[in-house]
Amino acid sequence: MTDLILGQTLSFSANPFDAGPEAARYDSHGGVVVENGIITDLGSADTLRARHPQAAVTDMGGHLITAGFVDAHAHYPQTPIIASWGKRLIDWLNSYTFPQEMRFADRVYADAVAGEYFDLLLANGTTSVCSYCTIHPESVDAYFTAAQARGMRALGGKTCMDRDTAPDGLRDTAQSAYDDSKMLLEKWHGQDRLSYVITPRFSPTSTPDQLTALGALWAEHPDCLMQTHLSEQLDEIEWVKSLYPDARDYLDTYEQFGLLGKGGLYGHAIHLEDREKARLLEVGASLIHCPTSNTFIGSGLFDMAGLMAAGQRVGLATDTGGGSSFSMLRTMAAAYEIGQLRGTPLHPAQLYWLATAGSAQSLLLGDKIGNLEIGMEADLIALNLTSTPGIAQRAAQANDVWESLFPTIMMGDDRAIAQVWVGGKPQN
Ligand code: GUN
Ligand code: ZN
Repeated sequence: MTDLILGQTLSFSANPFDAGPEAARYDSHGGVVVENGIITDLGSADTLRARHPQAAVTDMGGHLITAGFVDAHAHYPQTPIIASWGKRLIDWLNSYTFPQEMRFADRVYADAVAGEYFDLLLANGTTSVCSYCTIHPESVDAYFTAAQARGMRALGGKTCMDRDTAPDGLRDTAQSAYDDSKMLLEKWHGQDRLSYVITPRFSPTSTPDQLTALGALWAEHPDCLMQTHLSEQLDEIEWVKSLYPDARDYLDTYEQFGLLGKGGLYGHAIHLEDREKARLLEVGASLIHCPTSNTFIGSGLFDMAGLMAAGQRVGLATDTGGGSSFSMLRTMAAAYEIGQLRGTPLHPAQLYWLATAGSAQSLLLGDKIGNLEIGMEADLIALNLTSTPGIAQRAAQANDVWESLFPTIMMGDDRAIAQVWVGGKPQN
């Protein structure tokens, strides 16, 4: 069975932070050929129609066909507490997040939230996500089961916390974190499109023993990613210093225990010292920018332009429920606004690359998802660039694809997602 999907198409031949907007490939009458869930041909609509006369054609008209969005850092268990008012990081965790995460000891509850979460992602055009679960192994089973049922490429892991800074009822131990993570890794990693990610929450909620155990697990499974949080808020950094008085800096609390390397995903990374930046770059780690969260929780302004100029690998993420939107469109808009506050506005090509290919590369999946390339998995979206009257009247004035797309980036939401294909299968 061959499918031919037609519309405007947008993809990337390079990173637009290096190559400029010319890194984008745009075709006003383009198409994507899909066979068995894989992209097998690309080009102009006319060429593809001629080359694939037997294909079943889906003509999306003026909609823009791109890779689906990739959300490189999220907390699916926090879905029910998104948009909780008035707290900063440590109070927000204690007041809203930890009580919510305790509920995931109940598998029935975990299944319900996981199902709702993946439906929200798909409605927003997000076809892959890398999420934290809770300390409960049931929360990981619920997450991967829901992703697998939808055929999605998803990454995640059991959040580990064994220090008394985490509340009663939400702590594991160094040994149980190692054992449970290993068991879940062996159960899920490489099943269908799923990947296990070793997940110490952040150094303030782990003991050195736990970080050592998880560093050892990562060394035993170097093909797995490892995710954690780094330098999100100034109060948090002070707290880390008080808990790890011998550490050179926040990053050192991971580095000392074998939790720094390529395949390490460091969420937020806003207030970095020079040594930390140099080491992250040297080892090829990924930083994950969470702009709606960084404004919502009041964390600070990530230095996208500076880090990109240095050659740092960066992905983009919602960080729901600290982030205030499930939409990667809204997330791109927030990244743009933070760039403006730093005096470095991001081009729409850079924003869109971050939400697709950039995030995929941050997860070391740049050869599988996040772009339209022959051989890549056919996780696609069709964007309606005139999804509301306000967007439509602005897009009507556009002189090129960037002016057509930018109003949807800044003002769009799930109404702009006209169709989603997961592994080549249309979702509605
Ligand atoms: N740092 C440690 N845990 C969390 C979390 O759940 N959300 C955010 N935004 N930061 C964290
Ligand atoms: Zn987070």
